[in-house]
Amino acid sequence: MMRQDRTRRQLILVGLVAVIAGFVIGILIGAVAIDNSEPENAAVTAALRDGDPSITDKLINEIDGENIREFLRYFTSEPHLAGTPMDLVQAEYVRDKWLEQGLDYADVVPYDVLLSYPRGKENRVELIDSSGHVEFESAREEAILDESQRRDDIVPPFNAYSAAGTVEGELVFANFASVEDFDHLERDIGINLTDKIIIAKYGGIFRGDKAFLAMEKGAKGLILYSDPEQVAPKGYENQTYPNGIFLPGTGAERGTLFKHMMDPLTPGYPARGRVCLLKF
Ligand SMILES: *[C@@H]1O[C@H](CO)[C@@H](O)[C@H](O)[C@H]1NC(C)=O
Ligand SMILES: *[C@@H]1O[C@H](CO)[C@@H](O)[C@H](O)[C@H]1NC(C)=O
Repeated sequence: MMRQDRTRRQLILVGLVAVIAGFVIGILIGAVAIDNSEPENAAVTAALRDGDPSITDKLINEIDGENIREFLRYFTSEPHLAGTPMDLVQAEYVRDKWLEQGLDYADVVPYDVLLSYPRGKENRVELIDSSGHVEFESAREEAILDESQRRDDIVPPFNAYSAAGTVEGELVFANFASVEDFDHLERDIGINLTDKIIIAKYGGIFRGDKAFLAMEKGAKGLILYSDPEQVAPKGYENQTYPNGIFLPGTGAERGTLFKHMMDPLTPGYPARGRVCLLKF
């Protein structure tokens, strides 16, 4: 029993080291991609080589699908948006698990992070005709398709770090809102995107880049939606939640528009210590 615990602890440490190494290698690859000089390439190749394949095998054998299922169920069972009480409960759960699994030290540390929250359930899209009549209004929250999943703290759909406000303008469909899509609209079709509201599909590129490109083109707003063909592929149309794993038509993707890693006040670094405001 003791021995098994010890092996387990070593494996976890190796796992952590592997994760950290992966992160460092990621940074190295990033540096090499910019620099492109020979010696770094050799260093990366050497670092990526599998030193002891038996360690890889041990790690892979240690991964238990049932554990993954159980943890995933726990973490997804309650809304836990960053900075909310349930987020803290889950952080403490992770700390306790790590201590239980043999880490010598694990703690929950307070951070001052610039977070983004929706303003109640006010966010919506309205389609207004030329006489000012509202022809359509989008749902302000998602339909509850399984009553057992009803909660009063479900965060309404929003994209973090969107600018707040109300805008009105003509609608222009921009496919995936990629560079090519905007080029096509401007050059091939001759549409001036200034002050337009762009409507585009999720997919292809990061949603934050879609918003950034729309802004660069002078658009007033951007509406993103999930194309059913992409979120419930052909043949799986009837496999949307609660019948299957795919996003139902009443579901909305949430995410961030922030284009960088970590806290916007300290980009690239955790939000501890001196706060520096960077202009992008
Ligand atoms: C697009 O429209 C805006 C505002 O009407 C105007 O200032 C701008 O010059 C136009 N751009 C082009 C390329 O025509
Ligand atoms: C989905 O369900 C509808 C209605 O029950 C049925 O007509 C259709 O053939 C189903 N589609 C698939 C891909 O199973």
